[in-house]
Amino acid sequence: MPNTTHRAAPAPAAGAAQDAADAGVDPAGVPQRRLAGGALMPGIGVGTFGSDRYGPREVGRAVAGALAAGYRLVDCAPVHGNEAEVGRALAAATAGGLQREQLFVMSKVWNGAHEPEAAVASVRTSLRDLRLEHLDAVFVHWPFPNHHPPGAGTDDRDPAARPYEHDAHLRLWRALEDLVDQGLVRHLGTSNTTVPKLELLLRDARIAPQLNEMELHPCFQQPELFRYCLEHGIQPVGYSPLGSPSRPERDRTPGDVVDTEDPVVRAIAEAHGVHPALVCLKWAVARGQVPIPFSVKPDQFTANLRAVSEDPLTPAEVEALRFADRGERLIKGQVFLWPGASSWQDLWDVDGTIPGRDGPGRP
Ligand SMILES: NC(=O)c1ccc[n+]([C@@H]2O[C@H](COP(=O)([O-])OP(=O)(O)OC[C@H]3O[C@@H](n4cnc5c(N)ncnc54)[C@H](OP(=O)(O)O)[C@@H]3O)[C@@H](O)[C@H]2O)c1
Repeated sequence: MPNTTHRAAPAPAAGAAQDAADAGVDPAGVPQRRLAGGALMPGIGVGTFGSDRYGPREVGRAVAGALAAGYRLVDCAPVHGNEAEVGRALAAATAGGLQREQLFVMSKVWNGAHEPEAAVASVRTSLRDLRLEHLDAVFVHWPFPNHHPPGAGTDDRDPAARPYEHDAHLRLWRALEDLVDQGLVRHLGTSNTTVPKLELLLRDARIAPQLNEMELHPCFQQPELFRYCLEHGIQPVGYSPLGSPSRPERDRTPGDVVDTEDPVVRAIAEAHGVHPALVCLKWAVARGQVPIPFSVKPDQFTANLRAVSEDPLTPAEVEALRFADRGERLIKGQVFLWPGASSWQDLWDVDGTIPGRDGPGRP
């Protein structure tokens, strides 16, 4: 079973690791998770989506700083448009003494690359840009094929967008399984998926997903999917763990939850004398997911790493935070809807079935 907490092995006392020590975060104190296949992964990572606010060079510099501060897990994606800059930071860190095996680098296959050949080409491009021989994990970013230009607005739709089609999805998955066989990818993951889609994939996959990247923060806990993942040997990775306060306009809806303003989060933050964002991370690690907060600001990303390495929440605080859940998604994904879909809820199988192109029902 995944989800066991371990402590990381100390980093070599040179280069980036020396900087990490200077920043005051001991990598040996950062929790780790054991995946179903036996591999260890860091219990917190750094995100790389600039939310249309932070450009590739800024994100590349942030990753370099995060590695120096002691992060060992980096969550990348070609659609973030910065894998080359992130790759430069990774190469500099390994040239500075960090061992490749101490790093856990994840990337994804974007919606426009679901055809098997395109998926393989995408992973090879990520490997080239990230300057790696292998990726520790590759995720299918969203389970829907479509074209989504950078900076698309809330009402933009791709007329060729399609709903989830299991046979097509399996062809994509088989291509990723082949990359595992070739040693180019260590683990496969799903992202933005649901229990009904995971049931189909677990039934038919030769290599099961070991990770699932999903929106997770105190005000959106997805308890059913979270539990399903743990029960099926899938480690949840929590994106937007702080409630994505700087997300793009297209991902904002009036009345959206704000985790850092939640009264329970704020009361616990006060008790610990920390920013409410750090309570979100302490909660994430205590619950068993791997949070991947984003920041380009050294004080923030260092504080985020330190938060999960010291002063944990009490069991009573973790229990109190269970009631912060509002069940309201921030990243709704409406731009991925296909012609004929009725609402963004069609993306999330809310009634337990997978809507097809022309309405509800399993494909
Ligand atoms: N699989 C997917 O579909 C998916 C979707 C979304 C995100 N992700 C991944 O998840 C990562 C994180 O998600 P996210 O960027 O949406 O949201 P997030 O990590 O919840 O929020 C990031 C923002 O929080 C603020 N922040 C960070 N540390 C802070 C601190 N210590 N105190 C106060 N504020 C702090 C920063 O805002 P300011 O910059 O304004 O200071 C930062 O830009 C992404 O970068 C990406 O790698 C994946």
